[in-house]
Amino acid sequence: MSYTLPALPYAYDALEPHIDARTMEIHHTKHHQAYIDKVNAALAGTQHDGMPIEEVIAHLDQISEESRMIVRNNGGGHANHVFFWNTLSPAGGAPSGELLAAIDASFGSLDEMKKQFAAAAAGRFGSGWAWLAVQGGKLAICSTANQDSPLMGKAVAGCDGTPILGLDVWEHAYYLNYQNRRPDYVSAFWSVVNWIEVEKRFDAAK
Ligand SMILES: [Fe+2]
Repeated sequence: MSYTLPALPYAYDALEPHIDARTMEIHHTKHHQAYIDKVNAALAGTQHDGMPIEEVIAHLDQISEESRMIVRNNGGGHANHVFFWNTLSPAGGAPSGELLAAIDASFGSLDEMKKQFAAAAAGRFGSGWAWLAVQGGKLAICSTANQDSPLMGKAVAGCDGTPILGLDVWEHAYYLNYQNRRPDYVSAFWSVVNWIEVEKRFDAAK
């Protein structure tokens, strides 16, 4: 069974003015769909066909050498975008409870976590992602290139752990509205984080 494009849990214009409707629609129907089409083609008829994408990208060494980079880029793209859509929400809000306590313990404060996350997002040269991840029971921030995920492990992605929040910093995610102003896009992102979903992921990962 091949992967299909999941519907977004909100309308394309739901995240305005922080993320514009046109960007959301192209990002979802063109970019995400393209990752799905390519990873499906690469895995068709293999033992990995139909396996949860997070499992596939966590074990890239099990993919044939000729398909490995295709699956890394496009399987990573599929997994990262499903993750991204589900950790956004027009409701916004703020972290609370155990997650907020863990943020305070790892970074000193929520503001400091946001500062380090923004630095990771701004410092990623070219295309990639910024992540807040659970690493060994603690929270850590890192960034990955292209469509790499912490789920791929440190040897592949340069960072590891279970991601609980991620930000797409490819230009396709913000260029129509923000052009070269990636830091403004990162600032706006905080208004549309689905903290309830992030807390769920934190509870499952810790
Ligand atoms: Fe993207």
